[in-house]
Amino acid sequence: MSVLSLRVLILLLFHIKQSFCDPRATEAALVCGNRTAEPSDRQVFVANFLAAMDAISPAVSRQRYGVITNGTGNNTVYAFGECIKDLSQNDCNLCFAQCKTSILRCLPFQRLTKGGRLFYDGCYLRYDDYMFFNESLSSVDRTVCGSDDFVGNRSLFRESVLELVRNVSDEGPKNDGFFTGFVNKGNLTVYGLGQCWEVLNRSDCVKCLENGVSRIGSCPPKVEGRVLNAGCYLRYSTTRFYNNSASDAPSGSGGGSHRRATILASTCGAIACLLFIAAISLFARKKIVKKRREKKQLGALLAIVTRSKTNFSYETLEEATNYFHNSNKLGQGGSGSVYKGILPSGQTVAVKRLFFNTTQWADHFFNEVNLISDINHKNLVKLLGCSITGPESLLVYEYVPNQSLHEYLFVRKDVPRLGWEERYKIILGTAEGLDFLHEKSNLRIIHRDIKLSNVLLEEDFTPKIADFGLARMFPEDKTHISTAVAGTLGYMAPEYLVRGKLTEKVDVYSFGVLVIEVVTGKRVNAFSQNSHSILQKVWNLNCSGKLIEAVDPSINGKFPVEGAIRMLKIGLICAQATAELRPSMSTVVKMLIGDQEIPRPKQPPFLSSSSSGEGSSVEVINRFTQTATYFSRPDSYTESSGNEITESSIIPR
Ligand SMILES: *[C@@H]1O[C@H](CO)[C@@H](O)[C@H](O)[C@H]1NC(C)=O
Ligand SMILES: *[C@@H]1O[C@H](CO)[C@@H](O)[C@H](O)[C@H]1NC(C)=O
Ligand SMILES: *[C@@H]1O[C@H](CO)[C@@H](O)[C@H](O)[C@H]1NC(C)=O
Ligand SMILES: *[C@@H]1O[C@H](CO)[C@@H](O)[C@H](O)[C@H]1NC(C)=O
Ligand SMILES: *[C@@H]1O[C@H](CO)[C@@H](O)[C@H](O)[C@H]1NC(C)=O
Ligand SMILES: *[C@@H]1O[C@H](CO)[C@@H](O)[C@H](O)[C@H]1NC(C)=O
Ligand SMILES: *[C@@H]1O[C@H](CO)[C@@H](O)[C@H](O)[C@H]1NC(C)=O
Ligand SMILES: *[C@@H]1O[C@H](CO)[C@@H](O)[C@H](O)[C@H]1NC(C)=O
Ligand SMILES: *[C@@H]1O[C@H](CO)[C@@H](O)[C@H](O)[C@H]1NC(C)=O
Repeated sequence: MSVLSLRVLILLLFHIKQSFCDPRATEAALVCGNRTAEPSDRQVFVANFLAAMDAISPAVSRQRYGVITNGTGNNTVYAFGECIKDLSQNDCNLCFAQCKTSILRCLPFQRLTKGGRLFYDGCYLRYDDYMFFNESLSSVDRTVCGSDDFVGNRSLFRESVLELVRNVSDEGPKNDGFFTGFVNKGNLTVYGLGQCWEVLNRSDCVKCLENGVSRIGSCPPKVEGRVLNAGCYLRYSTTRFYNNSASDAPSGSGGGSHRRATILASTCGAIACLLFIAAISLFARKKIVKKRREKKQLGALLAIVTRSKTNFSYETLEEATNYFHNSNKLGQGGSGSVYKGILPSGQTVAVKRLFFNTTQWADHFFNEVNLISDINHKNLVKLLGCSITGPESLLVYEYVPNQSLHEYLFVRKDVPRLGWEERYKIILGTAEGLDFLHEKSNLRIIHRDIKLSNVLLEEDFTPKIADFGLARMFPEDKTHISTAVAGTLGYMAPEYLVRGKLTEKVDVYSFGVLVIEVVTGKRVNAFSQNSHSILQKVWNLNCSGKLIEAVDPSINGKFPVEGAIRMLKIGLICAQATAELRPSMSTVVKMLIGDQEIPRPKQPPFLSSSSSGEGSSVEVINRFTQTATYFSRPDSYTESSGNEITESSIIPR
């Protein structure tokens, strides 16, 4: 292949990434309400909430905003969602899909709040139990400033910001409630954007943005500021963050700070589990509508569970975890908290407390538990059992002491950097675990959410794949199944992301991404400005024959050169865009132990016109809207306690 065609290829790749994947799905603030549902109402409220969420996506993907009401009386759910107007429709849908997932953090079952707002930089979603659509201002409106100070003439900066937001706020209401602009003074440029939500009338829009202007003035000299009101969104930044392809705004600017995300420790990739639960709850909801035979069924189910070896009593687990004492907490995330517990037998376990606790889904849940509890492999976290009869649902897992690979590589500063031997061991073990799931167990199981935070480490660095929440058994007679897309952006194979086509090769792709992350010591970030930069970089280095430069410098050159190159090639081969080109996991294991030649990677990740084209991405979106499909954020997210008004998370860019 000539250098020229390679260039074209790479340009194309950039182009695809640009137009397909900058949904600005970074969280600006999550605000959960402070009214909670009565225990007796929770089930109905959740059902109405899910129905509203179901109904809102088609509206957003049709007209970029949606206004939905579902339910009656005190359990009515009002929902509103809208995208920022400069976003392309695809990005709008992607942003919104993520937003929908993340807002579930306001709905922990124990303290289910009847209201929540989630501001992303590309879209907005709010639900409440009252008619709020005409609200322009409220008492929980936020002003969120960035963390970095402007370097340069501060008074000039401040002046410029104020002038800009004033202009944006004046022009917005005249321009359909949306305006972007910038000021440029010498080498100082500030960009601004203001948008009123679609349902606001003009006078309320003026009121809302005026209020924003008066409050955003508290942000300079920070390089970034946002006002997040009930009725509008106002933002300035020294980085050009919006898409005004029409205007010739100067590009490049100072103050570009790295995004910093609050990273939440989570032993069990809790978001993945959340997805599973959301899907199950939805399933359950459909069942309520269809048939009312739970009572009888539940009785039978409980009898089975009680006899089962996987049954734990609630009381036992309560005592094991010292009544879910905070000091026993290992992590918390979207689906609930994980606690360390010691069973009466002396065995140490990890107990996961789940949010949603409707008995309707208990039988499905139990099927899953039953399925997984039969699986036994040294590289898979063992699910020991569950408890569904108590006041909340609990899952009991084998305890893995060393936390996740993600923690180890990117969060903890108190541990020595992983050496080559350990990295090799982790990659090989993960491959063996996956191989087992795919081929060696009696069931064909696809994990669907392989990523760093789902690989836990033993003390001796034996890896254990966790969180089978998303795992699906593979029907014998089908080569692939179409499914609601779930998983983590950045790790998802193109054919799965776009068409929902699920085969073992989806796990192979994620595994390839993971290998590259482990060897390079860099994270894949689906939403950074140069998305997929690390995959891209490794691919480029491979093309120029300098693969060795990609190896994590913190290994200090203490690694076998041949071995490292082989490993990166395996990563690239697994992460090829076309599923058919990827090897099976059993082949990968052979390559890793040196029993098989490693072919040349033919294709970079994410390059396949048939799977990344605009047309087919619309299919993804349809899939979002038809089934309860939730994207999870890449594995950093902020904690929501579900108590009172939740602290916002600020992710300056
Ligand atoms: C809920 O929050 C609102 C707004 O901050 C406040 O006015 C109200 O008193 C709170 N209600 C309760 C019960 O805490
Ligand atoms: C609420 O959602 C359910 C389930 O989708 C639907 O059948 C019902 O018509 C909706 N109710 C309203 C008032 O939209
Ligand atoms: C709605 O809630 C209020 C108090 O929150 C209660 O007084 C009223 O009876 C409830 N209405 C219905 C229909 O449940
Ligand atoms: C930018 O906006 C134009 C139209 O306003 C749209 O066609 C294009 O897809 C957008 N680009 C991105 C990256 O969102
Ligand atoms: C705009 O809406 C608000 C609240 O819904 C209402 O009070 C106001 O009269 C409306 N203004 C106009 C000009 O329609
Ligand atoms: C709120 O807005 C809706 C339209 O979205 C309108 O029909 C209704 O009258 C408004 N309510 C008030 C109190 O202004
Ligand atoms: C450009 O910005 C730097 C700080 O980044 C400042 O020191 C310098 O004076 C500025 N130059 C002009 C011409 O404004
Ligand atoms: C900063 O800008 C102001 C104008 O806003 C100007 O009067 C002042 O001299 C500048 N200061 C410096 C140190 O350049
Ligand atoms: C304010 O907006 C108007 C209308 O687009 C534009 O002509 C003007 O230059 C802007 N001024 C500033 C300082 O951005």
